[in-house]
Amino acid sequence: MANRPYQPKDRFFKQAKASGLRARSAFKIDEIARRFRIFEKGQTVLDLGAAPGGFLQILLDEVGPKGLVIGVDLAPIRPLNRPNVKTAVADVLDPGFDALLTSLHPGAFDVVVSDLAPKTTGIKDTDEARSLALAGKALEVSLLRGRAGGHFVAKLFMGRDFEAFRGEVRQAYAEVKVVRPEATRGASMEIYLVGLSRKR
Ligand SMILES: C[S@@+](CC[C@H](N)C(=O)[O-])C[C@H]1O[C@@H](n2cnc3c(N)ncnc32)[C@H](O)[C@@H]1O
Repeated sequence: MANRPYQPKDRFFKQAKASGLRARSAFKIDEIARRFRIFEKGQTVLDLGAAPGGFLQILLDEVGPKGLVIGVDLAPIRPLNRPNVKTAVADVLDPGFDALLTSLHPGAFDVVVSDLAPKTTGIKDTDEARSLALAGKALEVSLLRGRAGGHFVAKLFMGRDFEAFRGEVRQAYAEVKVVRPEATRGASMEIYLVGLSRKR
């Protein structure tokens, strides 16, 4: 058998399985949570692109039983058997999405998180443009429905429009951090933008 190169990132897949986490991506939001301390007990958090539910599992622990997490995805999310979570199947780019979100939770969100990602085509420009459209929608939702002083986290495929998007986030948030979590696969072009303390 040929020698296979050592792939340290594989440990996240194994760790996720061993810990009962639904996706290795859970470690990404866990790292962001620990680095920036943006989550607190009792918060209401919106998780866009939430299936199969790895982020949700971490977010539910972060906000605790008095908090609430709303998860939305094109794909259904298997029940998490926790009292403080609501999930819905929806397309965030659908014109009716904002109304649907209001019906799920009419109040403001403390943190809006987006792990939205398009199905990749392998065509770089197309994939980047679709990723940007999803991150742009997440920012729009965060501006409409996030509270002043709240936070924003969004995944984005690194591409030529990245700087412009970072500039848009910077206009609304006091600080913007760029994060490539340890659990990100080696070849992936994805990064997360973290907007801290919404200005208005
Ligand atoms: C990387 S996965 C999310 C993984 C999730 N954060 C977790 O930890 O389990 C990206 C998700 O974005 C969803 N998605 C892509 N486009 C969407 C859209 N227009 N509306 C809603 N969800 C979308 C996909 O269905 C997919 O489940």
